[in-house]
Amino acid sequence: MTLAEIETWLREEDAGRLERLWAMADGVRRQHVGDAVHLRGLVELSNHCRRQCAYCGIRAGRNELVRYRLTETEIMDCVRLAVSLGLGTMVLQAGEDPGLTRDGVAGLVRRIKAETALAVTLSLGERDDDELAAWREAGADRYLLRFETSNPELYRRIHPARPVETRDRLAVLESLRRLGYEVGSGVMVGIPGQTYRDLARDIERLGELRLDMIGLGPYLPHPETPLGQAGQTVTDAAADQVPNSAVMATKAMALARLVCPDANIPATTALATVDRARGHALGLQRGANVIMPDLTPPGYRELYAIYPGKTPLTADRIEAVRAVQALVASLGRSVGRGPGGARHREDVTSRPKECPSWSK
Ligand code: 5AD
Repeated sequence: MTLAEIETWLREEDAGRLERLWAMADGVRRQHVGDAVHLRGLVELSNHCRRQCAYCGIRAGRNELVRYRLTETEIMDCVRLAVSLGLGTMVLQAGEDPGLTRDGVAGLVRRIKAETALAVTLSLGERDDDELAAWREAGADRYLLRFETSNPELYRRIHPARPVETRDRLAVLESLRRLGYEVGSGVMVGIPGQTYRDLARDIERLGELRLDMIGLGPYLPHPETPLGQAGQTVTDAAADQVPNSAVMATKAMALARLVCPDANIPATTALATVDRARGHALGLQRGANVIMPDLTPPGYRELYAIYPGKTPLTADRIEAVRAVQALVASLGRSVGRGPGGARHREDVTSRPKECPSWSK
């Protein structure tokens, strides 16, 4: 698919033609990753963060936000909950927290791998190769790091106060690949200042990166962030602004499925937040094959407020997982068993070591 075709689909508003897009994405999803929907247990380890991302509610400098870091005991309780619910993967996510040390995280991963059969996915921000290598060595299987936007100017605008020496996220993704992780990335849809051409380029980039996992969700303004406060003005000014709607997010997901047929693609929490009633279902019908129920203990999860309204419909974690399982069944799909890793990993060794499209 060409860049122009992607952009045309993103601008498409005709209901009949959009039905064709949904059907294509659903067909490719079924053919390449099947009808199983994999559930990943998500635990938000810590809301400490050293970054000042302009969109994010747990950014450094939000002094009024109560910060927490789970103890190993609390985390292992979540891990056991995931096992008891039959989930196959644990996703350990956090702000970019230096308190989550190389050896601390490595010990935790080692313990989860020793005591359970779960796959472990890490989502801990931009970390050094040294740390990423130690965690891989400890047994971590996958790593998620969204590049957020492929437009460097927009990237700079939404990531102020970035230390000059920081390497860019694409370089980190390259390291992750080299270390043998299954690699996930993605973007937010509808960032103030994001044009249709920008989002089309993002989707093209997802395909070039040959990602194992793709996370796409609508941008949700957080009133206590610089972008949340300034966002509206930017949106009004730009005619070419991508809306942060559920339908736009699912267009992006459907196109991501078409450019990356084998990827594991979640119906994200952000999508379920903009459309509480139908978000997860729409995602699963428009390209997604994964859902990540939040297993963070109540009391902490409210503090992991990257955007407003993230709190789930039911505070009871078991009930929430049961509801997702029921949704999956109601769509005529099955709940995946086991770790549900990348389909195309067998060909990984035949990939070029340095994929040329990664360099800018
Ligand atoms: N709205 C939507 N998504 C957000 N994220 C962070 N803040 C927001 C927000 N306000 C997403 C980013 C990040 C992921 C963990 O959450 O894409 O990579």
